[in-house]
This record gives sequence, C-alpha cells and structure tokens, in this order.
Amino acid sequence: MTDILCIQHLSVSLGHTRILRDVSFDVPQGSITGIVGGSGSGKTTIGLAILGLLPDVMERTDGRIVFDGQDITDHSGQQMRALRGAGVSMAFQEPMSAFNPVMTIGAQIGETVLAHENVSGTIVRERTLAALRSAGINDAQRVAAAYPFELSGGLRQRAMIAQAIVCRPKLLIADEPTSSLDVNTQDKILDLFKELRRSLGLAIVLVTHDLGVVRRVADEVVVLCKGEVAEQGKAEAVLSSPRCGYTRTLLEAEGL
Ligand SMILES: Nc1ncnc2c1ncn2[C@@H]1O[C@H](COP(=O)(O)OP(=O)(O)OP(=O)(O)O)[C@@H](O)[C@H]1O
Ligand SMILES: [Mg+2]
Repeated sequence: MTDILCIQHLSVSLGHTRILRDVSFDVPQGSITGIVGGSGSGKTTIGLAILGLLPDVMERTDGRIVFDGQDITDHSGQQMRALRGAGVSMAFQEPMSAFNPVMTIGAQIGETVLAHENVSGTIVRERTLAALRSAGINDAQRVAAAYPFELSGGLRQRAMIAQAIVCRPKLLIADEPTSSLDVNTQDKILDLFKELRRSLGLAIVLVTHDLGVVRRVADEVVVLCKGEVAEQGKAEAVLSSPRCGYTRTLLEAEGL
C-alpha cells in the first residue's frame, strides 16, 4: 500500500523550546492512523505543521512533509491554500471556536467550496447539503440554515466534518473529534469515520488523548510523548503488547 502522507524527521521549535523533535511516521492510503499522547505532547502542532498553519511563534527547524507523492515542505502560502480543503483538511479541536458565530453553517461550508471551485450558487448549495448528509446529518437543510450555537455538540462536530470533506480531500486530520461528546455520540462519530473511509477512500489522522478511541477505529498508531515519538506500529500490536513504558502508563491510566 502506498502512503498518502510521509512525515520525515519533523522538528518544530518555539524560541529555544522544542515542541516536536524528530517526528517521523507514514500514513498509508485509506487508513486511519491514531496520534495519541498526553496534553501538550504536540499532537495539534503536528496537524498544523502538515497544513502549513503553525502559529507565528513556532518554526519548523527540520524535516520534510510529503503529501500524495509531492514534497510540500517548502510550499508557498498560496500553494498551501490550494491544497488545504481539496487535498488535506482538518477538523479542529474546538468546533465552537472554529466556526464563525455570526454565519450559518451552510454559508460557511459554501465558502469552503467557493475557495476552491468556481461554481454556481446552486451547485454550492447542493455540495453543501451532500457533505452534511455524508457526515451523517439527516435534516441537512435545517442544519445548513442554523447558526453554530443552535446545534448540539454532536451535530456541530458532524458539521465540522462536513466542512472538512466538502472539497473531497484525500486526507482528513481530525483533532480530538470526540473528546467533548458523550459516549453514545462518540461512538456514532467513530462509526462515521469508518464509513467515510469506506465510501470515499479517505485516509484519516485521528488525534486523540484516548487510547480507547484508537483501539476502536485505528489501523496504525503513533504514540507521542513530550514532542517525540515514543513508539508506533499497528494499533492492535501496540495496544496489546506495548514496548514503551509511556504507552503502558497511558493504557493503565485508562484502565485498558
Ligand atoms: N500558540 C501557541 N503559543 C505558544 N505555545 C503553544 C501554542 N500552541 C501550542 N503551544 C505549546 O506547544 C506544546 C504542544 O502543544 P499542542 O497543542 O500541540 O499539544 P496537544 O498534544 O495538542 O495538547 P492537547 O491534548 O491539550 O490538545 C505545548 O507545550 C503548548 O503549550
Ligand atoms: Mg491539541
């Protein structure tokens, strides 16, 4: 199987502090790869580095990022804007703050379409509703007309996923997509990821602090500890016989 994403020796610094140190891993096409680690271990920073959205205070000091066979490490801002959404997209950790509070969900998803494609209003609307339905929302019309604060946490998370897939990317980075949801809604979102992989062939990088989530859906796992890869491999193998003490601590902390 070829890899949709290869991260090679990625290091990111904030002043003299190393946020990521020599991080390398590959994401096979159509796979679900879990990135797991404690708070502050650098999970979100990896996602932002892939998208070229590191905060100004951070700097990539080393490493390469290859997406779909193309080295995107030195892509310009304009090249990255073209890639974001249509090639690789991210569903952010805080759906409430990621959405604009004064625009309807439909208008925001529509903007994403228009950022990449020069299509008519009718097509934008069709694409928006189709993406909401693909994200498992039955009453897509109502959700499209709603403002973010009018939706439940689960629906907002689905709307965020709809926005991330509306331009049919090959890779979705989902940052803590289930941590703010109740167990029942968590399960439904995880089922949605499996369905999107099956129906769209989407590869997913699933960022989470929860090894239970990794166990449920991930094929591969990368365990991150203080900005470094502690261990990685097939999720089943890593979770059933962890080689690293840090992974064992995470498993024990969750009673797994
Ligand atoms: N904008 C920023 N300015 C300064 N420091 C930051 C910024 N964003 C992240 N950091 C720091 O970088 C480190 C890695 O943060 P990151 O958000 O990637 O961790 P994380 O694994 O996603 O954590 P969490 O599970 O809490 O979301 C942390 O020490 C954090 O305090
Ligand atoms: Mg984070």
